[in-house]
Amino acid sequence: MDLPWNDERSKRFITNVGLITSVGPFGQNVMACEWTHHVSYHPGLIAVCLRPDEATHENIKRTREFGVNLCSTDQSRMSSIAGAYTGAKFDKIKALEDLGFKFYKGKKISAHMIHGASVNIECELYKEIPLGDHTTFIGEVVEASNNIEKEPLAYYDGKYFIMNTPVESPTYEERDNMGKIVEKYKK
Ligand SMILES: Cc1cc2nc3c(=O)[nH]c(=O)nc-3n(C[C@H](O)[C@H](O)[C@H](O)COP(=O)(O)O)c2cc1C
Repeated sequence: MDLPWNDERSKRFITNVGLITSVGPFGQNVMACEWTHHVSYHPGLIAVCLRPDEATHENIKRTREFGVNLCSTDQSRMSSIAGAYTGAKFDKIKALEDLGFKFYKGKKISAHMIHGASVNIECELYKEIPLGDHTTFIGEVVEASNNIEKEPLAYYDGKYFIMNTPVESPTYEERDNMGKIVEKYKK
């Protein structure tokens, strides 16, 4: 069966917003991508799932690299623009610069990267997997820098959120008691 975009069940997932930068036939570009996932530590691999009709898709296919900039809580407007216009028709980088956002040249890749993102990760294409109506591009991390003072933005139910209320973890005593119950069911 299908689980379409905007379906109430699809909207239950809480995600980051990856601002995916690329360069290629459509020039320097940025798009918003909630399906951005860290999928391996050794080597560091990041998966992004893109629709084949997007400019970023074509850029990545051509240059085999992309930037993953995790949107920070003060960059939701950038996400709205990056996610609503296509680089096939608009120079979103110039428009965003006009709006005060700042980019820098990638250290290891030719695509621009975004100042003030929560984390900046430069990737070289490791694998490309067509999956359903999206293509999963897996990127191998070649450069990564952390902006510890910038909180990542959360995305849920079509809205942006700040994650600021940690849920209490079980105490050691509770963990001990739960562990005893699990032990009862050891296979
Ligand atoms: C918050 C948000 C999350 C998005 N997540 C994805 C995603 O995971 N995958 C995808 O293909 N498009 C996603 N989009 C849509 C693209 O960002 C949109 O199609 C964009 O215009 C593509 O730009 P491009 O053609 O310049 O590559 C998202 C949009 C928004 C606003």
